This record gives sequence, structure tokens and C-alpha cells, in this order.
Amino acid sequence: MNRQITLAARPDGFPKDSDFALVESETPTPGPGEVLIRAHWLSLDPYMRGRLSQAKSYVKGLEVGDVMTGETAGEVVESKHPKFKPGDKVTAPSGWQLYCCLNGDLLNKVDASKVPLSYFLGSLGMPGRTAYFGMKDICAPKPGETVVVSAASGAVGSVVGQLAKAWGARAVGIAGGKAKCDYVTKELGFDACVDYKSGDLSANLKAACPKGIDCYFENVGGKILDTVFMQMNLKSRMAVCGLISDSNATETYGVKNFRAILVNRITVRGLIVFDWLERYPEGNKALQDLAAAGKLKTRESVLEGIEQAPKGLVGLLKGENFGKQLIKLA
Ligand SMILES: NC(=O)c1ccc[n+]([C@@H]2O[C@H](COP(=O)([O-])OP(=O)(O)OC[C@H]3O[C@@H](n4cnc5c(N)ncnc54)[C@H](OP(=O)(O)O)[C@@H]3O)[C@@H](O)[C@H]2O)c1
Repeated sequence: MNRQITLAARPDGFPKDSDFALVESETPTPGPGEVLIRAHWLSLDPYMRGRLSQAKSYVKGLEVGDVMTGETAGEVVESKHPKFKPGDKVTAPSGWQLYCCLNGDLLNKVDASKVPLSYFLGSLGMPGRTAYFGMKDICAPKPGETVVVSAASGAVGSVVGQLAKAWGARAVGIAGGKAKCDYVTKELGFDACVDYKSGDLSANLKAACPKGIDCYFENVGGKILDTVFMQMNLKSRMAVCGLISDSNATETYGVKNFRAILVNRITVRGLIVFDWLERYPEGNKALQDLAAAGKLKTRESVLEGIEQAPKGLVGLLKGENFGKQLIKLA
């Protein structure tokens, strides 16, 4: 039998259990060109909160009753597509469910012989590519420059800082709590990390960035963004990747220090990873090379069972995850 999680109601604020439903159905059978996949890992990502809403965004939201959107990593069970055979490991946009039939053209075959399959949902997958293209094309740090990233211990942020170090820049994280900051500096090798939940963020950031900020990789928005704006250097760059602090707010935060863009001629550019679709092979190779060289560490937060996915998503939105949030399905 297949097990799926569907959207049962549109949440107001943080989602709750009753906004989701667990549905059992027959395992589907692949049609021509399709592949039946058994998901082993489900990725939980902040963008999923946006899909629960009808607000205008870069992708249309779900309808009530739809299977929740999500990427999985799993194994081909049956194939009617020439490029896939049973046993192949793939990532797929198959949603919050154990089994799914998809056209083979939508799947991505991965080599999980040297790294865990789950890494293709994190540092070697979509979050890793987001970090790579945002850093390469928008932040573009030069050796010796200072790169600051928020949500620094997370799936995207951890890769941003490790890329900064690999490219000769100074990496400074912003994260919630001492444990996350210790991990960012001691395990990931960032030069400094500021705990935004304790002390004076502005003063602590200034101490961590004595020469100001040349690149900011924005993952959270809100007051953190306003504080960073005031410490950005002349001709600095900002990649706006995510604004998670707004995602469950009834009223979005109004930025106060927008003027800093004018005064310091800051380049601010929004980033949606699929705009780089044609260059995914470049990003994948760069990340895999970095991992093979031992310069790309990954940490995962794992919950077991599809029924844990709603709890995992709410936890992610509250910062309870520590590293890439995954659901183990097999
Ligand atoms: N544009 C794109 O194409 C793209 C692709 C992937 C991800 N993203 C964005 O990148 C960001 C990071 O995603 P991820 O998958 O790597 O998630 P993540 O960092 O692994 O997890 C989310 C983290 O956000 C932080 N957070 C939550 N609420 C916060 C708040 N109110 N204020 C400050 N920080 C808060 C928490 O870390 P702390 O405990 O440190 O606060 C939490 O652990 C998100 O904004 C996401 O939407 C964008």
C-alpha cells in the first residue's frame, strides 16, 4: 500500500497537525515512459510553507486535498523508461508519499556508492546548488573578503560558509543558539558565528566582521537583515535566498534600512535556484569535488516515518532542526 500526506486545510500562522491528512491508497502502476519509485528519504524545506498558501509566489500553491510537494531520494522499483532500471537510485519531485509513478524525464539518477543517498537532498542536492549559484554568480566573493550568511548551520547556510572558506574568503555565520554557533565554527570551519538569540546582534556582528561585510547571503529576513544592511561595505553584494522569519507571520516585516542600498551602492539580487537549471551539472560537480576533498561537511536532522513529516516541517520553521531536515521512509 502507498501512504501519502495531503493538505487538509490551509494553515493560519504555524501549520498544525490537523492541516494535514494521512491517506492510504493502492501502489500505482507505471504507464508508458513512467517509473515507479520507492522513496527512502523525504526532504523537508522551508519553501513548503509557501505551497500551503494561495498568496502569489514564484510557484502556485497547493489545493486542499493535494499530496504535499517535496523531493525524495529513493530507488526505482519498475521502469517503462529507457534510461532507468530497477535498483537505480534517483531523486524525484514525488511529494510526501512512499511510492510514486513519474515520467522518467523528471528524475535525476544519482551515484550513491560513495556518499549516503540522503546527501543528494542536502549538500549535494537542491540546497547545495542554491548555495553554489548564489555564491558564484551573486555574492562572488574575492579572497580575503568577508561573507556573512544567516541560518548558517542549516542546509543552505552550511554550504555557503564552506564555499566561502574554499574560495579564500572569511566566513561569518549568524545562527540561533550556542550549539549551532559552536558547530558552525568548530565543525564547519567558519571564522566566526554570531548567536542572534543572545546579546547585541549589531555589536557582536561588528566584532565578527571588523572590516565590514562584502557579501551577505540572506536566508531569514526581518531584524537580522536590517542589522546586516548597516554593516555592508561600499559596492557589496547581497543574495536574497529566503525570508523564513516572515513565513508564518500574519504581517511581513518592513525593512527600515533600505537606504543602505543607495548609500553603499549594494547589489541586491533575488535567487531562485531553478533559474540555474541548465547549469545544474556544473553545480553538482563543484559540490561533489568539494565533498571528495573533505571540504564539504553535512549534518542531518532525521525523523522516521511519513507520519512525522508535518511535525518535521513545523520544527524546521521554528528552527528546531539542526542541519538538513529529512524524513526516513525506508
Ligand atoms: N531561493 C531558493 O531557491 C531557495 C532554495 C533553498 C532554500 N531557500 C531558502 O534558504 C533558507 C534556508 O533554507 P534551508 O533549507 O537551508 O533551511 P535550514 O537553514 O536548514 O532551516 C531553517 C533555519 O532557519 C532558521 N530560522 C527559522 N525561523 C527563523 C527566524 N524567525 N529568524 C531567523 N532564523 C530563523 C532556523 O535556524 P536558527 O536556529 O539558526 O535560527 C532554522 O533552522 C530558507 O529561507 C529557504 O526558504 C531558498
